[in-house]
Amino acid sequence: MTHLCVSIYVNDLQQAKRDLALAAERGADLAELRLDTFTDENAIGQLISQSPIPVIATVRSKEEGGKSELDDIHRLALLNVAGEAGASYLDIEFASILDNGWSGPAKPRSQRPGWIYSSHNFVSRPANLHQLMIDLAHSNADISKIAWQARSIRDNIEAFDLMLQRHKPTIAICMGEAGMISRILAKKFGAFVSFASLDSGSPTAPGQVSIEDLKRVYRWDAQQLDTRVYGVVGNPIAHSMSPAVHNAAFDYVQYNGVYVPLLVESSYEAFKAFMESFLEFEPLMLSGLSITIPHKEHALAYLKIGRSKIEPLAEQIGAVNTIVISRDGSRYDLEGLNTDYAAILDSITAALQITREQLQDYRVAVIGAGGTGRTAVAALAHYGATVVVYNRTRERAEKLADEFNSKTGKVISAPLEKLCDSCCQIYINTTSVGMHPNTNATPFGNFPPAITDAHLVFDTIYNPLETRLLRYAKSRGAKTINGLEMFVRQAAAQFQAWTGQSAPLNMMRQVVTNRLRK
Ligand SMILES: NC(=O)c1ccc[n+]([C@@H]2O[C@H](COP(=O)([O-])OP(=O)(O)OC[C@H]3O[C@@H](n4cnc5c(N)ncnc54)[C@H](OP(=O)(O)O)[C@@H]3O)[C@@H](O)[C@H]2O)c1
Repeated sequence: MTHLCVSIYVNDLQQAKRDLALAAERGADLAELRLDTFTDENAIGQLISQSPIPVIATVRSKEEGGKSELDDIHRLALLNVAGEAGASYLDIEFASILDNGWSGPAKPRSQRPGWIYSSHNFVSRPANLHQLMIDLAHSNADISKIAWQARSIRDNIEAFDLMLQRHKPTIAICMGEAGMISRILAKKFGAFVSFASLDSGSPTAPGQVSIEDLKRVYRWDAQQLDTRVYGVVGNPIAHSMSPAVHNAAFDYVQYNGVYVPLLVESSYEAFKAFMESFLEFEPLMLSGLSITIPHKEHALAYLKIGRSKIEPLAEQIGAVNTIVISRDGSRYDLEGLNTDYAAILDSITAALQITREQLQDYRVAVIGAGGTGRTAVAALAHYGATVVVYNRTRERAEKLADEFNSKTGKVISAPLEKLCDSCCQIYINTTSVGMHPNTNATPFGNFPPAITDAHLVFDTIYNPLETRLLRYAKSRGAKTINGLEMFVRQAAAQFQAWTGQSAPLNMMRQVVTNRLRK
């Protein structure tokens, strides 16, 4: 069993008592009390003997990222006080044990707390990692703990391997944002414990996730060794809503999967190295990926080189935002999709209650010629719509229109000033104009077309949910679609591609709405 442990830095008795009570209330089955600067022996005794959950006592030294200025002998003495008071585990740096030639606990395990020997490197992966693990395995520690600053996301694979190979109960942590998944997936790989923060704002180590997120967002209770792993690859990735929405959908249909953030440096080389190491590590059971900025083009290039299956429209768009990984033992096949285009089409056809094929009867203004503009133009042109592309940089609009006009003969570009007499039935904003914090801006600018109740206006922006453009369109009686619809539908299409089940669309919509309203 992997313990879920909240790490509490003890400043004073009342704060620590309150935090212990909250940790228990939020579902922790263990608490780490960081006693680095709290050395009142009576108070420590009281705190531990009255704790509602079992305790790991730690007096972390400055050399290993803590704040304690006590020497090893005094820190060991303080840990013994904690042990006498009833702490279940005592954590001491392995380096201190080696330096002092301490022979280890005298009593049998059943009559004393468990000793965790730990080693921390806040700069990088220790060069002697394997020797360190061998030495820990041969030591008289009851539990081995190793934590190092992740150099990249790939370091997690080594941490997972250490958790799996454990010669005794083992804690292996990659610190920092790239190492977050070593904490999230600790239960899947059978680590002794994962450390969580009490609140999202109070981590005691870099990359620590709050207990609420571990339990609610990352499906802690449902994780097991055969849980399939999915994730979103991007840089940056911290604010992605995808883990919340996909894990909620897995939960809803009781699917044995967990979805995690995967921070991968921005180069193609980093993307390729990530793919190779994560795909090859069989116990991870990596089964599907969402791809976001800046890796959508990298994903396409990677799949092309590997001669994997690629959805034809994704190839035309030049971006893959979804990878399906079909596994059969150690073999796997990859398929690249673009669910953004399907989301744009499905949002429109659902609002107008038409089929994709009926789009050929519509004239659509696409404002913007960036990644999302290109996706919209490719999708609409593919289904025979007449498309007019407007963009601040006119040449970009012309280039995009020419490329797709050669396929259908129904794609043109026009200057933004002519938007007012565009005669389109559907308007799609794919620019960032109107997005937070510039919410007073609108892509119609000084040339708004005459919008009526016969029109459909689609803003791909989801922050804010109702842009100035959409307020204007609504005030003129037009049908509207916001960016949330596109986001939810692309996620729903990914869910379907990965699980083969239809997605709980309304529930997913609700999760995103709640997140955006926070
Ligand atoms: N709902 C969803 O799921 C979803 C998903 C992806 C994107 N989006 C939305 O789509 C937007 C664009 O994303 P993207 O990836 O396509 O970005 P992108 O490739 O960088 O393209 C940005 C587009 O916006 C235009 N633009 C930027 N600032 C402008 C300004 N001040 N005035 C006029 N035009 C301006 C650019 O025109 P130039 O060519 O002249 O620079 C370009 O056409 C995002 O902001 C987001 O709101 C939504």
